[in-house]
Amino acid sequence: MRKPMIAGNWKMNQTPSQTVELIQQMQPLVEEACCEVVVCPTAACLFAAKSVLAGSNILLGAQNIYFEDAGAYTGEVAADTLLELGVQYVIIGHSERRQYFNETDETVNKKVRKALEKRLKPIVCVGEVLWQRELGITNEVVRMQTKLALAGISAGSMEDVVIAYEPVWAIGTGVTATAAQANDTIRQIRQTVAEIYSPEAAQKVRIQYGGSMNGGNAAELMAMSDIDGGLIGGASLKAEEFAKVVNY
Ligand code: PGA
Repeated sequence: MRKPMIAGNWKMNQTPSQTVELIQQMQPLVEEACCEVVVCPTAACLFAAKSVLAGSNILLGAQNIYFEDAGAYTGEVAADTLLELGVQYVIIGHSERRQYFNETDETVNKKVRKALEKRLKPIVCVGEVLWQRELGITNEVVRMQTKLALAGISAGSMEDVVIAYEPVWAIGTGVTATAAQANDTIRQIRQTVAEIYSPEAAQKVRIQYGGSMNGGNAAELMAMSDIDGGLIGGASLKAEEFAKVVNY
């Protein structure tokens, strides 16, 4: 059985003191969760987050990583730094990074490889934009993104990989994919993993949904056969709302 995972992607929100406050508000509300609970503050707030997460069931994630170990890469953050900050998961290839920061399928793949080499667990984001859905090529798009992101990743490493299916038109818009749409596309992604690796690997890999998921629609989405969790943006910035998702 796949253990569901609800991860909060805080994006470029919260200062260090607000990070501490939000985690302290969330902690008592999510401590009974049956799923894995992850929060992903900005890199500059990870130290503050770590300071209040000892002994908590909330795990720490980062929003990005660089694919080199160290060196002259101004502004980037290395895997070793994340590890020392207590980070276990790292979001890679979020559509905002693809859209605004020139993230490509190639850099996504390099980052996934680096994360796995360092024993950080990547949350690999894939998803179509609106015109691609309207053109009927959603499956082709996510299949290609999945194959490129996982190129060169061994079957053995797949147990550390989480995939997040995030239709770009549903992110931050209040428009959620229907549970059936999300499940269908996630099944395609799972099928792609089966083709690359094996049916067993596909059955094991966790695939989240993301895009305007909140306390009101989490239960319906989570009831679907292939949806193993959520990557939550806006609704992860309020403790009560995030807890509703976590306790779907
Ligand atoms: P949203 O963001 O929940 O605000 O739509 C999800 C995401 O971008 O991961």
